Amino acid sequence: MKHLFRLAMLASLVLSSAPHAARADDAMFQAFGGTPGLTHIVDDFVATVLVDPRIKDFFAKADIPRLKAQLVSQFCQLLGGPCSYTGADMAQAHRGMGVHDVHFNALAEDLQLAMDRAGVAFAKQNYLVARLAPMEKQISVK
Ligand code: HEM
Repeated sequence: MKHLFRLAMLASLVLSSAPHAARADDAMFQAFGGTPGLTHIVDDFVATVLVDPRIKDFFAKADIPRLKAQLVSQFCQLLGGPCSYTGADMAQAHRGMGVHDVHFNALAEDLQLAMDRAGVAFAKQNYLVARLAPMEKQISVK
């Protein structure tokens, strides 16, 4: 009986601590609205990129549904969400495109606009941007 009681205590401890741990770990992902929120942000972001005269031509032959899905999974992973990005690495994905820093900055600006429109707090936006910024070395020619 005592043993059973201990077992029940242990089970309730495990059950009550598990959701807690998950919440603490994916707080940043949740600040972006989880998968539905990120999907909405990426849709709006890519729609903005596709009409942005500074960079839209790069995407003329792109597979847009694939690009969006890869961006959602990449951002989800960067934000500590339950995803693993399995797309091409950034150097490989952008090789030979001739992306320069002006293009990189234009795209970053479009992402910030989409995050603004989705109501993502400025500090949370910066968290994602800070994780994307170092990728410029792999993506831009110079
Ligand atoms: C931090 C900045 C960027 C990130 C995180 C990013 C991320 C990605 C990802 C995840 C993919 C898909 C890879 C795959 O399909 O396996 C991709 C592809 C692509 N990216 Fe970027 N990218 C960035 C900047 C840029 C810039 C500045 C441009 C051009 C202005 C650009 C143009 C493209 C194009 C054209 C594709 C290929 C789409 C296709 O062929 O279907 N990216 N990018």
